Amino acid sequence: MKGLFSAVVASAIAGAFAAPSPVENGPITARAVAAPNAACATPVTLSGNPFSGRSFYANKEYSKEVVAAAASMTDSALQAKASKVAQVGTFLWIDTRARISVIEDNLKDVPCDSIAQLVIYDLPGRDCAAKASNGELAAGDIATYKSEYIDPIVAIFKKYPNTAIALVIEPDSLPNLVTNKDLQTCKDSASGYREGVAYALKQLNLPNIAMYIDAGHGGWLGWNDNLKPGATELATVYKNAGSPKQVRGFSTNVAGWNQWDLSPGEFSKATDAQYNKAQNEKTYVSLFSPQLKTAGMPSQAIVDTGRNGVTGLRLEWGDWCNVKGAGFGVRPTSSTSDTLTDAFVWVKPGGESDGTSDSSATRYDSYCGKDDAYKPAPEAGTWNQDYFVALIQNAKPAF
Ligand code: GLC
Repeated sequence: MKGLFSAVVASAIAGAFAAPSPVENGPITARAVAAPNAACATPVTLSGNPFSGRSFYANKEYSKEVVAAAASMTDSALQAKASKVAQVGTFLWIDTRARISVIEDNLKDVPCDSIAQLVIYDLPGRDCAAKASNGELAAGDIATYKSEYIDPIVAIFKKYPNTAIALVIEPDSLPNLVTNKDLQTCKDSASGYREGVAYALKQLNLPNIAMYIDAGHGGWLGWNDNLKPGATELATVYKNAGSPKQVRGFSTNVAGWNQWDLSPGEFSKATDAQYNKAQNEKTYVSLFSPQLKTAGMPSQAIVDTGRNGVTGLRLEWGDWCNVKGAGFGVRPTSSTSDTLTDAFVWVKPGGESDGTSDSSATRYDSYCGKDDAYKPAPEAGTWNQDYFVALIQNAKPAF
């Protein structure tokens, strides 16, 4: 398998030396052709759409997982498809302090024509409305979050001013404060989430970084009654951080399953559909973005299309765990045909579990035991080979 993967990479690199087509004449690619794996020669300052004109860097951690997954496959056609997945630029989740150790190795080889993508995800009392992704820091431990998580990450980023970096900031956290504020766990987490996200935005506000604060998805903050409180929540934290220049907007559908522009939308026949106009992510972006703008925050979107290739799988809109029958979706691209959406991205690394189906586990969440959840599934973030195979087989567009 390794041989196959290398051959594909080799031909991709060889391609970079082929006679340039008209679109390859821009300054970024010119530098990349001269030295395909070199960072930019001068500091990067991101303004506008940071994905435009850049390739999505395929981080080594996901590539390694996928190469290992492919190596254990016996079907060569499937293997060939898996080797293509290994080249897709997905987000690298920094979900513990220990995980910070992989950042440098993933920044040092990002070519000048590419953008690195990371998820900041370690708030105290993490995942307050569910169990599967509860984190290492207890609610209230904001001091550790700042000094042992955010600060060391900032120190590393400061060593790579010539590299473009996109960040998704703390998935699910602020949306939970809008819709799950009555849960005791979310009450306990609330002040830490607000202070932690504001601290992250302020400290990570470097010229070569573009930040997107997570805004759930259309089936979450897209309800008519949630749009404004959701926008207010995000914008308040943003303003409390001092309105950092490098905040570009919001992320949607992270680790989610919603379609981009399916009309009339997957859950449009549900009895409560009248209360939600955001029946697909495109509509959600079109409704949430202006609310954010009014609330005083930059309002460009990125949308996770990593696992939304197949529609009609969920029993209920809120089902989020290892949805059975899912397929990889549209590949990362800045060609979205939507002025409010900077890029379709793969935030969730497809193949990594959303949560364990072992009902005796501490982090077992009943959503991972529902009829539409794939079983057996390992702990959140760990590899699920059979699920990965299904994502490939069900991919749309196909690999
Ligand atoms: C889940 C896990 C986290 C992992 C991420 C990406 O949120 O809790 O540990 O990094 O998914 O797979």
